[in-house]
Amino acid sequence: MKLLYIGKPNKQEFFEIIDEILNSEEYQKRKKYKHHGEKSVYNHCLSVSMKSYKIAKVMGMDYKSAAIGGLLHDFYYKPWQDNKEKTPLLKKHGFVHAKEALINSKKNYPQYMNKRVENIIVRHMFPLNITPPRYIESWVITIVDKYVSMEIFKKPSKLLMYVGIKVGEKNE
Ligand SMILES: [Fe+2]
Ligand SMILES: [Fe+2]
Repeated sequence: MKLLYIGKPNKQEFFEIIDEILNSEEYQKRKKYKHHGEKSVYNHCLSVSMKSYKIAKVMGMDYKSAAIGGLLHDFYYKPWQDNKEKTPLLKKHGFVHAKEALINSKKNYPQYMNKRVENIIVRHMFPLNITPPRYIESWVITIVDKYVSMEIFKKPSKLLMYVGIKVGEKNE
């Protein structure tokens, strides 16, 4: 009988996978991008990346793509909460940032792209973006991303902010 291989997550391995991106000048700027409330895009993505890596490693999935995709899933251009312009609903952050993150990732880190990483990034906003994820790793990031942002569900009034349709007020 064939035994199912279960990998053991390893912090050093995780940081070796993401090191070059995490410490690049462009990625470091995300420390100053606010995500939800006071949490930075940097902290949010690092947390999604680490949790997704652990799940993928234990389950015998493509853990490298999970770590990279998790790290880049919200790698959009600018801090969205600074955008005070009125935008039509379908052009709002929640609907457009996954595509934006993919374009930006391809531009800045082309050597890390593969079909799984790309699918993770572009499909992570399912079901708000209606095309479902294609790979098991993409499903992991989609679910982990929502789980990590879960604090928001303790305050239902923040739901529109979470999905990127409404900009949050100060000190949230
Ligand atoms: Fe996102
Ligand atoms: Fe996210």
